[in-house]
Amino acid sequence: MDSILGYLAANEARFVDELCAYASIPSVSAQSQHAGDLRSSADWIARRCRSAGLVTVVHETKGNPIVIARTPNHDPKKPTFLVYGHYDVQPAEPFELWTSPPFQPRRVGRDVFARGVSDNKGQHLAHIIATEAWLKSGKTLPCNLTFLIEGEEEVGSTALYEFLPVQAAKLACAAVVISDSGIPSLKHPALTYALRGIAAFEIRLDGPSRDLHSGIYGGSLDNPAMALCQLLGQMRDKKGRINVPGYYDDVVKLSAYERKQMARVPFSETKYRKFLGVPELFGEVGFTPDEQRSARPTFEINGLTSGYQGEGSKTIVPAWASAKVTLRLVPNQSPKKVILAVKRQLQKLCPPTVKLTLKHGHGGEPYLVDPTSSLAQGALRALQKGFGHEPVLLREGGSIPIVSAFKKHLRAETLLLGMALPDDNPHSPNEKFSLDAFAAGMRTSALLWPELAVA
Ligand code: BES
Ligand code: ZN
Repeated sequence: MDSILGYLAANEARFVDELCAYASIPSVSAQSQHAGDLRSSADWIARRCRSAGLVTVVHETKGNPIVIARTPNHDPKKPTFLVYGHYDVQPAEPFELWTSPPFQPRRVGRDVFARGVSDNKGQHLAHIIATEAWLKSGKTLPCNLTFLIEGEEEVGSTALYEFLPVQAAKLACAAVVISDSGIPSLKHPALTYALRGIAAFEIRLDGPSRDLHSGIYGGSLDNPAMALCQLLGQMRDKKGRINVPGYYDDVVKLSAYERKQMARVPFSETKYRKFLGVPELFGEVGFTPDEQRSARPTFEINGLTSGYQGEGSKTIVPAWASAKVTLRLVPNQSPKKVILAVKRQLQKLCPPTVKLTLKHGHGGEPYLVDPTSSLAQGALRALQKGFGHEPVLLREGGSIPIVSAFKKHLRAETLLLGMALPDDNPHSPNEKFSLDAFAAGMRTSALLWPELAVA
């Protein structure tokens, strides 16, 4: 193992340069003007896999390419593990809040700032580099590895949902490994054993057939923007509970053991509040902020649109109002069932003065895996050695919907070994990745395969 870890330490400067090169490609999957950049990003990571010694194919899809890279000389007697990552990134807007341009990676001490550097380019690059260390040191890996790097994770993984069932036999594996989540600190590496699911939809309320003069007509008809505010306002009570009959029916309760595990991570409410930049925290009564943001479901408004948004004022009753909403779901809530319950409640509460339309968006099941399995124990040993600290067990609030598709089509559970720190700012301005987490992630990955192969 020493020569492999030595290789990682000796070449760190090159790996950081590579991370910066990768993060300089603006592979924003939500914006069609970046289609070419998504292809460049797929080609970049495919080239990097090849130079690591992996046998690599770029698969064309109806959307963005899917990169598959395998360790050479497949040995059927050894287990195979699948490493998943995504090369697409979230939009960088609002640009003016970045202290340096999002696609010109900037190094400050042991951090690199750039969109996508933490979510998720740095995290899967760490695994590819660790595999290179194995292959270049002439040591024989105790398993076969398949890398699957997609380009639509941030927009719902449409192409991968089609690709998976078709390619299931070729992607067969004993377990999936994903580093696309967080750790509480470098001293608290983590095995994440639960993710929230998601259900996205848009609500639209239509009122008058056109924007109307609010002086001439206002007061004699409903205002769709006001109706929308009132409708949305009824969806959550003062105690932070979602006001939808049946919403909590299938929620798996946190066990006393889980709550104790979560409480092992030091937490300061004041620091957290300041970090978020809010005057006071708010959340469902009876749960800690960590529990609220990982093990409880939410009803979140992501965007609101109505009326005149330009300079100055315009006195109108707007013709319509709309809201983009996502629900975060926890084990064992089903997106389909919950969306139906929410729809019924919205229809019931919507006044007859406006017309309600609901448009369904993407969805993803929540995920929960047994953290006491022998594979999970193997992962915990690798984390302990790679980070040099006792790992914690975490539930995380974010979603990686494809994880349940891996379970369905590959019949494989997923080990979630995140490398992102709490201040990495994913999806926010000034995203960054810690080079210490990058290095510890590479070490963990190198140490992981012998642990999993015997588990
Ligand atoms: N890396 C995140 C998911 C994540 C973040 C998991 C933190 C655990 C902890 C991923 O890139 C992401 O942002 N996923 C989306 C999925 C959605 C677009 C379907 C999310 O959670 O919003
Ligand atoms: Zn993301």
